[in-house]
Amino acid sequence: MLIAHLSDLHVCARAPLSATNAHTVEAIASVLRLSPQPDVVVVTGDIGEGSPDDYALLARYLSSLRMPIYMVPGNHDDREAMRAAFLDHGYLPASGPLNFVVETRPVRLIGLDSLIPGRVEGALDDETLDFLKEALEAAASVPTFILVHHTPLRCGLEEKDSIRLFRGSERLFEILSRHRQVARVLSGHHHRALLGQFGNAVCQVAPPVRYQEACGFGAGRAEAEVELPGFLLHRWIEGAGVATQHCPLKIGLPTA
Ligand SMILES: [Fe+2]
Ligand SMILES: [Fe+2]
Repeated sequence: MLIAHLSDLHVCARAPLSATNAHTVEAIASVLRLSPQPDVVVVTGDIGEGSPDDYALLARYLSSLRMPIYMVPGNHDDREAMRAAFLDHGYLPASGPLNFVVETRPVRLIGLDSLIPGRVEGALDDETLDFLKEALEAAASVPTFILVHHTPLRCGLEEKDSIRLFRGSERLFEILSRHRQVARVLSGHHHRALLGQFGNAVCQVAPPVRYQEACGFGAGRAEAEVELPGFLLHRWIEGAGVATQHCPLKIGLPTA
C-alpha cells in the first residue's frame, strides 16, 4: 500500500498567484506522475488559511486526483469551513472534532483533530483521545497510521517544541504504549522534515508544501524558509513495516 503524505499547503485564495498555491499545484502534479499511483493521499493540516474560499480553491486543485484524499485540520484551518467544504468526501463527522477512522487495508487510518481555535500549539481533548482509544481497541491487530497536525514529538528545536502538541500528549503516550499496532504518527506543522520516537510510536513530520525551513538545530533558523519543499511517500511492506521516501518538489529555491 502506498500513501502520499502532504502537509502544510497553506492554500490562500486571497493570493491566487502566491508561491504556496503554485507549490500545491506542483505537489499534486508530482503525485500524478508517480508510478504506481498512491492508493491514498493524506494531508496533515494547515491545508488553507481558514477561509471557505481557500477550501473551494483546494477542492479544485485536488479534483485531478483519482484516489481517496483524507485531511486533518491544522492551526491555520477553520474547523467548520473545512467540514463544510469536504463533508461530501464521506469521512468527516457532521459535528464535533474532525476525527475519523478509514478502514483501508492492509493498514487503517485514524485522523485526529488537534486544532485549538486561535492558538498555534495543538491539543487532543478527552473526546478525541477516547475516540482514538476505542478505534485502536476495535482493531488491535491491524497496522494503523495516525494523522494529526501537531506532532507529540519533542524535536530539540525550542521554537518548535513550544508549539507542538501539548494538552493530551501524556494520555496519548499512555494509549500508544498499550497499542503496538501504530505503525506511524504522521504530522506536519514544523515546516521541516523530522523523524523521532514517542514511546512505542515512530513520529514522522512531513516537509511542508511551502518552502522548508533551514536545516539545523540552532535558534532562529525557523525564520528562514530557504529549502526545497516536498512530500513523503510511505509504503507499507507486509512483513517488514513502513519505508518512506522524501519527494522534493521540482521548483526553484526562493531568491534572497
Ligand atoms: Fe503550517
Ligand atoms: Fe501548523
